[in-house]
Amino acid sequence: PKPLVIAIDGPAASGKSSTAQWVAQLLNVHHVDSGAFYRAITLLALGTGVAPELWTSQAVLAEAHRITWRLTERSVLPLVDGAEHDEAMRDAPVTRQVSRVAQMAAVRHWVNDQVRAAGAATDVVVDGRDIGTAVFPTAALKVFLVADPWERARRRLIQRLGRRPNDAEIAEETEALVARDALDAAQSAPARDAITIDTTTVTQEEQVERIVALAKATR
Ligand code: C5P
Repeated sequence: PKPLVIAIDGPAASGKSSTAQWVAQLLNVHHVDSGAFYRAITLLALGTGVAPELWTSQAVLAEAHRITWRLTERSVLPLVDGAEHDEAMRDAPVTRQVSRVAQMAAVRHWVNDQVRAAGAATDVVVDGRDIGTAVFPTAALKVFLVADPWERARRRLIQRLGRRPNDAEIAEETEALVARDALDAAQSAPARDAITIDTTTVTQEEQVERIVALAKATR
């Protein structure tokens, strides 16, 4: 049979990655974080020393051969020069520039090829922005996660700081998230057949259970 694909899309810090990871674990399939490929290529672009305003898709993609991926027990792990660079990929410099790289059509094409190759190799839960629309339009299940920006910012800060953020910190993070959402808007619409889940007031456990139940119903 064809490998199973579940698409989980949504805006920045909507809980896509952790939800997708958890769903993949419960379904015994592999998690693919498509944003990690955009982040990996942004990390390499920063490494060229060229000012971000001058980046071209040709120059950025000239580094792409340094990115590979391998299957771990539960995920598709992107590697840069054969090693994991998860921390640098999540850092502020990459987060600030990643949407710029993600605007480049040739870069999107390259990432989509990587993600489709992973999905052809094994059953996957893929999270991103355009998985259910552009990358896997025939995915068995498409979920679109939304949440109030203030709540997304609050959750992201708790994760990053390991404590309760104050209102000024949440306000600043909300602004950064909303700015990134605006840059990503062109490729972040839900598919027509996506099921939208608002996670503002739902626990992660409840969302995961709901998605797993939907996935089981499609099989
Ligand atoms: O999911 P994450 O926030 O890590 O993604 C980082 C960035 O990669 C997004 O802000 C967006 O610019 C880009 N992205 C995308 N399409 C995807 C996944 C991520 O454009 N499918």
